[in-house]
Amino acid sequence: MEHKLPLAVIIMGPPGSGKGTQSSRLSASMNIPKISTGDILRQVSLGDGPKSEYIRSVIATGGLVSDNILADLIVSRLSDLDCKDGFILDGYPRNIQQATFLGELLLDRNYKLLVIEVIVPDDTLIKRVKGRYLCKNCGTIYNKYFAKPQKDGICDKCGSSEFTYRSDDNELVIKERLKEYNTQTIPVLDYYRQRNLLVSVNGEKTSDEVHEDILRQIARALVNDCN
Ligand code: AP5
Ligand code: MG
Repeated sequence: MEHKLPLAVIIMGPPGSGKGTQSSRLSASMNIPKISTGDILRQVSLGDGPKSEYIRSVIATGGLVSDNILADLIVSRLSDLDCKDGFILDGYPRNIQQATFLGELLLDRNYKLLVIEVIVPDDTLIKRVKGRYLCKNCGTIYNKYFAKPQKDGICDKCGSSEFTYRSDDNELVIKERLKEYNTQTIPVLDYYRQRNLLVSVNGEKTSDEVHEDILRQIARALVNDCN
């Protein structure tokens, strides 16, 4: 998709709604990077030392990692050269403090901001999260019920035959993550809705259909901007 202004697209939705799946697809279609705070935090959590340990323990219980850690991470990642034509945020912002921080950060930069909410009912979310697995090598997301690789046991993207699970994908932690979403993140949707920056898509459709819907919403927002 052609676009002139640098675009900042935020993909929002509860755990399992398809943020990661859709932001990867959008990143490929639009040729701008995907920034997943969950992926970055999981990577940091593998290290040694108190910060990694802290992040590990928060992720394991389904809470939110501190705003300060997220602020450092976002400032550093957005200053990378590959973000200059735009980027897709997956999993940030997740509370009002993070949303206002991001607003200040983008104030001086000429990004067109668009927020996409992916709507999926809770019972579907739980089934999706329980069925999720990932390529151990490249992180491509699969699902044992809904999205298997084309060749069983071989990653479509990199050909690896090793897969892994997320340790926070168990029913107890999913419920905590959903609780955090409902209390901390739903107000962020209202924040963007009030600013006329929010559009919603039905995340229960197939991944292809959701992708098409998101592309259509972005195209519409860009056309409206030119008028
Ligand atoms: P994060 O990694 O962001 O987890 P999450 O928000 O709980 O969301 P998920 O990654 O579980 O789901 P998703 O929406 O990406 O769905 P996916 O595409 O994989 O965060 C993890 C933790 O990090 C947080 O709990 C927190 O502790 C910390 N953290 C992260 N950001 C933070 C922040 N800003 N501040 C503080 N702490 C933060 O899809 C799910 C499954 O469904 C897959 O198997 C997929 O194949 C399948 N699927 C996708 N789309 C479809 C479809 N249309 N139809 C059928 N199946 C589908
Ligand atoms: Mg994700």
